[in-house]
Amino acid sequence: MADLRTDICGLHMCNPVMTASGTFGYGTEFQDFVDLEEIGGIIVKGTTLAHREGNPYPRMAETPMGMLNAVGLQNKGVHYFVDHIYPTIKDINTNMIVNVSGSAVEDYVETAAIINDLDKIPAIELNISCPNVKKGGMSFGVNPRATDEVVSAVRNVYKKTLIVKLSPNVTDITEIAKAAEGAGADSVSLINTLLGMAIDAEKMRPILSTVTGGMSGAAVKPIALRMVWQVSKAVNIPVIGLGGIMNWKDAVEFILAGASAIQIGTANFIDPAITVKVAQGINDYLERHSISSVKDLVGRLEV
Ligand SMILES: Cc1cc2nc3c(=O)[nH]c(=O)nc-3n(C[C@H](O)[C@H](O)[C@H](O)COP(=O)(O)O)c2cc1C
Repeated sequence: MADLRTDICGLHMCNPVMTASGTFGYGTEFQDFVDLEEIGGIIVKGTTLAHREGNPYPRMAETPMGMLNAVGLQNKGVHYFVDHIYPTIKDINTNMIVNVSGSAVEDYVETAAIINDLDKIPAIELNISCPNVKKGGMSFGVNPRATDEVVSAVRNVYKKTLIVKLSPNVTDITEIAKAAEGAGADSVSLINTLLGMAIDAEKMRPILSTVTGGMSGAAVKPIALRMVWQVSKAVNIPVIGLGGIMNWKDAVEFILAGASAIQIGTANFIDPAITVKVAQGINDYLERHSISSVKDLVGRLEV
C-alpha cells in the first residue's frame, strides 16, 4: 500500500479524496453504499445562517457530459444543523467539514462563529460564489476586495482550518486565490460551478426556473484542471482541486497539476461509492510508479 495520508493545515486525512458540497448530503444518506470512514473528508451541504427554501423547480438539467443545477442552497439553517444534524454526524470517524454560504459578510461571520464551537467539525469551506445582496448581488468571489473582506472577517472568528472555495466565473482566478491567501485562508478549493444555461426549444423557454444555473461534471474538467494548475503556482497554501473528476485518473491529473487533495461532486450521483474507488485507484497508480506517498505526487507535472 502507498501512503495516502494527506494534511491540509491541521486537517489530517486518511487519503486525499473528499466529497464536494451539495452532492453528498450530510454523508449519512450514502452510508448504505460506501464506508464513510474510508473517505478523507466529507464536505456537507451549503449551510446558511437562516433557513432557505431554495429555488423553484425545475432546478436541474442534464447536459452532454454534465449537469446544470440551480438548487439555491436549500438548507434549514445553521441552528437546525447544530441541534439536529451535528449529533447524527459528529461520531463518524472522518473529517466532517461544513460548507458555509451567505448573502452578507455578517451572515458568513455569524455562521462560522457558531460552527467554530462544534468540537467535531475540524474545518469549514467558505463558499464565496454566493451573491452579496447588500452590494447589488455580485458574487463575493469575483472581486479580490470583496474576497478579502469576507475571508478576513471570517478569519477573525474562525480558529480552525479555513478553506475558501473559489468561483471559476472570473477573468483571473489567481487574483482571487491570492486575495484569499492574504486574508488568512489556510487552503483554497476550486472550482465551484460554471455559469451556464439550457433551453427547451419546443417550449421556447429556459429549462431552469432561474434561467441560468451552475454547470458541473466531466465537461468542466479541462477548465478546472487549468485553474488548479494556475492557482497552485500562484499561492503558497495547499490547493484542493475539483470539477469534473469522474475516476481515479482524473484525480491523479489534478494532483499532478498541484492539488494536495481532491473533491468529487457530480460523479457521486452516478456511482455513490466512487470516492473509495478513486482512493484505491490513486493507490494503485502510486504503486505502479513506485511512489511511496501521495504527497510526492503533488505538483509533479513536468512542463
Ligand atoms: C446539485 C449540486 C449542489 C451544489 N451545492 C453546492 C453548495 O451548496 N455549496 C458549494 O460550495 N458548492 C455546491 N455545488 C458545487 C460542487 O460542490 C462542485 O464545486 C461542482 O459541482 C464541481 O464539481 P463536480 O464537477 O465534481 O460536480 C453543488 C453542485 C451540485 C451539482
